[in-house]
Amino acid sequence: MRGIVALTSLDNTTELRNRIETRDARIGIVGMGYVGLPLSLLFSEERFRVTGFDIDPRKVETLNTGGTYIVRIPGPEIQLARQNGFTATEDYGQIAQMDVVIICVPTPLNEYHEPDLSYVTGTVRSIAPHLREGQLIILESTTYPGTTEEVVVPLLEQDNPSCLRVARDAASPGFYVAFSPEREDPGNDSVARRDIPKVVGGCGPAAADLASAIYATIFSRTVLVSSPAVAEMTKLLENIYRCVNIALVNELKQLCIRMNIDLFEVIDAAKTKPFGFQPFYPGPGLGGHCIPIDPFYLSWKAKEFDFHTRFIELAGEVNLAMPYFVVENIIEAMSQRGKALCGSRVLVLGLAYKRDIDDLRESPSLTIIELLQKRGAHVEYNDPFVPSVGRGRKYALNMRSTPLEQIPEFDCVVIVTDHSQYDYAGIVSKAKLVVDTRNATRGIDSANVVRC
Ligand SMILES: NC(=O)c1ccc[n+]([C@@H]2O[C@H](COP(=O)([O-])OP(=O)(O)OC[C@H]3O[C@@H](n4cnc5c(N)ncnc54)[C@H](O)[C@@H]3O)[C@@H](O)[C@H]2O)c1
Repeated sequence: MRGIVALTSLDNTTELRNRIETRDARIGIVGMGYVGLPLSLLFSEERFRVTGFDIDPRKVETLNTGGTYIVRIPGPEIQLARQNGFTATEDYGQIAQMDVVIICVPTPLNEYHEPDLSYVTGTVRSIAPHLREGQLIILESTTYPGTTEEVVVPLLEQDNPSCLRVARDAASPGFYVAFSPEREDPGNDSVARRDIPKVVGGCGPAAADLASAIYATIFSRTVLVSSPAVAEMTKLLENIYRCVNIALVNELKQLCIRMNIDLFEVIDAAKTKPFGFQPFYPGPGLGGHCIPIDPFYLSWKAKEFDFHTRFIELAGEVNLAMPYFVVENIIEAMSQRGKALCGSRVLVLGLAYKRDIDDLRESPSLTIIELLQKRGAHVEYNDPFVPSVGRGRKYALNMRSTPLEQIPEFDCVVIVTDHSQYDYAGIVSKAKLVVDTRNATRGIDSANVVRC
């Protein structure tokens, strides 16, 4: 009887737990992008030996020579991490040496607006041959509820040569799997990264506890939920909430312009209410790797359950139309000054999708530039964070940032991204016409400014 008790109380997680405690656990982070690189640095600061995996040889080389490719992560931070043992590699063979593997690869949409999980499945297929007993695999990429259990676990189980299975409790042999969404808000320094609570859902309580233990070393608080699907859905709820509310104010902005009411003034008044209201601000359209994309992961999955996510679809429709609305306003503002857009010179201020960052993904500026060019305008841009732009997933702009001194030469200047280092009063004083999509010129009284 004693023997049976000893056997059933076996805890296979003890060794990894101890290694986390002593900082001897080796951490592998897959995807050295906006999410994976800062996460690597956090673990490195906490004295873990971190290995960054990426398929992009230029990123691997830059990191291994102490360089950087993300504006807000300075080179010295990488160099410090390297002194703590941080290295980058393209070699998946090194996965076997890792105790914890965290996946932070892209989850975009394909051309039909459906989830493109190829980066996740490619990564999981590359990890599986090197999987070993007791390893903890965590997915951080944003995705639809069910991905961890329905896609990641089966691929790991079927492609690992040792026939290991996911361990659903601490007494079972195998590897552990969890999902924990990334909640970072790039450029927002109001909350320290470690103070953003980390939501964790495991394939069983043992995986959840282990994932919580590793994240507790770098985050002030972890929030355990009952399954990976709950954690996956939590991230989507957060982003859908933002997407829908931004669509609401984008629609109201169009109405307020017709009614000659300043919506920004309205929002400022409304947010004095101490409860029940959170301010969202209108803009030229959605950008970034999250808000324009993630909601559609849920819409797609919902169809499997004969369900139409109408709020998401409607919000998508309103937000996608915003760059067109901006271009209509540019045409109108120019024609009121006796100018046609076709043949005119337009300078777009801000290429990044939001203030004070260098990320161009899904940026409304790119769509606005394309729409202006299609209508015959000669378009240039200025962005202090983006000295040049080549070919992206959708657009081939091949442009360099135009110095602000040239503003007087343009027929119209369009503020698409309200970077804080711009001197807006100076811009307005030099420009023939300013179309402001961000209310960045608020308080500047000039007949040359059109806000939309
Ligand atoms: N950027 C954000 O602010 C943010 C915030 C929250 C969540 N997320 C989510 O995090 C995930 C990653 O986003 P990101 O912004 O860091 O993307 P990113 O494009 O900046 O970085 C992804 C990295 O993964 C690498 N990669 C692609 N396939 C790989 C593979 N098979 N093996 C190894 N490396 C591979 C790419 O080369 C790239 O360096 C996405 O699911 C995104 O939705 C991003």
